[in-house]
Amino acid sequence: MTQVGFRSPEQWEQMAKEQLDKGAFEYIQSGAGVEDTLQANINGFKKWHIVPRVLRNVANVDSSSTILGLKTSAPFALAPVGFQTIIHPEGELAVAKAAAAENVPYTVSTVSTYSMEEIAEVMGDAPRFFQLYWPNDEDIALSFVRRAEQSGYSAIFITVDTPMLGWREQDKSNKYFPLRKAQGLGNYLVDPVFQEKARITPDSDLEVVIKEVASRLFNPSLTWENIKWLRTKTDLPLVIKGIVHPDDAKLAVEYGMDGIVVSNHGGRQLDGSISSIDALPAIVETVQGRIEIVFDGGVRRGVDVIKALALGANSVLIGRLYAYGLTDGQDGVESVIAQLKEEVQTVLALTGETNVKSLQQVTLKSM
Ligand SMILES: Cc1cc2nc3c(=O)[nH]c(=O)nc-3n(C[C@H](O)[C@H](O)[C@H](O)COP(=O)(O)O)c2cc1C
Repeated sequence: MTQVGFRSPEQWEQMAKEQLDKGAFEYIQSGAGVEDTLQANINGFKKWHIVPRVLRNVANVDSSSTILGLKTSAPFALAPVGFQTIIHPEGELAVAKAAAAENVPYTVSTVSTYSMEEIAEVMGDAPRFFQLYWPNDEDIALSFVRRAEQSGYSAIFITVDTPMLGWREQDKSNKYFPLRKAQGLGNYLVDPVFQEKARITPDSDLEVVIKEVASRLFNPSLTWENIKWLRTKTDLPLVIKGIVHPDDAKLAVEYGMDGIVVSNHGGRQLDGSISSIDALPAIVETVQGRIEIVFDGGVRRGVDVIKALALGANSVLIGRLYAYGLTDGQDGVESVIAQLKEEVQTVLALTGETNVKSLQQVTLKSM
């Protein structure tokens, strides 16, 4: 890796703003509505304060962890972020290589511009998950899951907070949606079941492909019954992404899920939804350690990772932070990850702990 010098999260964002066109940058940065939830995700962390312990020999700190059974170098992974070629031509391939080099799992989005197989190819044995936007056709959904099984993905993250796109005002005024620019088609283009159902061939007109994908991408009629069905079809761990209500967390346990992601999609779906960090404690209380709790939303610094873990999450996903780093390609993403890891180590030690597991004993005060 060519070392990119230190940049704060705000500097990464600024760099992306300067280098990307307005539509692409605002697609990444913005949230739904008046961005109340987007802001609450970030500001929510400020309400929590760590009460650190001292004189506990923190000379050797180990911030390695396991996420859904995979050994990782840090307690965080990369969130699914679609359409990464709007940020850099190498898109998902650059992110995949960076994640592999840093031994941090990468969650590949359904709407990746490179296919899940192409991404797997550059990752070798490195840890990866596949995120499913459940199409409105269960045969295609199952085909995606089979392909993920065959190309070495270790879990399926089913995103359930997106029965349709949120009310994204920036994108509406920019008339911007990456799919319309033929981005994010990688998994669909090569899928045999989609090809058959949509009568698509390698020679099909791109406009036709875009229309066929757009009409299948989301499934507003999805229910727990579909989840129950998928549970009988695959042995891969299933993780429900997009839970903020404790009753839904309880249902995820009852339906045999292996984990949940406490998430509001980075404030891009329901504006006015509770922030992720505010939703976390009641969910931890309900789940009682029966399944894994992954957390995302508003994580920008190492201290945010530590606070989420201290509140009971088992691991954390980062979204926009690495997306901004991708403006600098693989090196940028690697730098973001390396920097966050280092910061997590420092914060862990200053909290008075030497490993990630003991963080659940840390005292946090809400004020
Ligand atoms: C540009 C962008 C694209 C995203 N695409 C997806 C996606 O394809 N699938 C998904 O489940 N979540 C997607 N998300 C949501 C992220 O996985 C994650 O929940 C969110 O970014 C976390 O908030 P943060 O950006 O504040 O870290 C996307 C987020 C952003 C910013």
